[in-house]
Amino acid sequence: MEVIIRDTAEDVGTLAADVFESHIKKGHTLGLATGSTPLALYNELIRRHRESGLSFAGCTAFLLDEYVGLPRTHEQSYYRFIRDNFTSKIDIDDDKVFSPDGLADNPTDAGIAYDSMINEAGGVDIQLLGIGTDGHIGFNEPGSSLTSRTRLKTLHPQTIADNARFFDGDESKVPHHVLTQGLGTISEARHLLLLATGEGKADAVAMTVEGPVAAVCPASVLQFHQHATVICDEAAASKLKLTKYYRYAYDNKPDWQEI
Ligand code: PGA
Repeated sequence: MEVIIRDTAEDVGTLAADVFESHIKKGHTLGLATGSTPLALYNELIRRHRESGLSFAGCTAFLLDEYVGLPRTHEQSYYRFIRDNFTSKIDIDDDKVFSPDGLADNPTDAGIAYDSMINEAGGVDIQLLGIGTDGHIGFNEPGSSLTSRTRLKTLHPQTIADNARFFDGDESKVPHHVLTQGLGTISEARHLLLLATGEGKADAVAMTVEGPVAAVCPASVLQFHQHATVICDEAAASKLKLTKYYRYAYDNKPDWQEI
């Protein structure tokens, strides 16, 4: 796993945009994440699209997760979030942006169908990940099987509390169930790029990078991946022990070696 520490959240977004840009230029399949962390990246990619003509026309995108019970049109549905904050502002074809069906009568079947769609598209080339304060990725809460597939999950009360800010601060409005790509599904992406910013993520980042691989910290599954990158700002890196080495390794990276 490569750990890269940048000064600020904005710097994290800019470096992540450099990584994404090379995939976008190849028309790759992108795995998108919601939440506030990726916004700096999305804003930078929108800027490059507008100012430098970066085109997403050849790309396909798959979202990590979706609330159960919210239609795609609901302003807090993850499909709508991605549309409003990213995909409606670039030139990706709407028909090539996929998300789990939060309104499916049978969520189990919907999860299986979603994994099949990802496979039929040839798999995800680069999967963007945020991280929850409890170490979740996607909506795989602590205890999630490290080989899990896309399926229904019940949100942890902490995640409901964390996300209430998007629902007028009212926890009772946050859906309690979600459809999320599983840790096994996520692990099949060819490159995992986890972004973390802010002090609130410092414990989760430390557990992910330097703790044991354990379902209690779902993001620790990244330790099993052949190509996983964590980019965090100083605050999110503040509880890591090996920061000196991570900085040294990044500063001495051979020119030919991409992130
Ligand atoms: P955040 O969410 O980027 O809004 O902090 C991350 C997550 O819960 O996965």
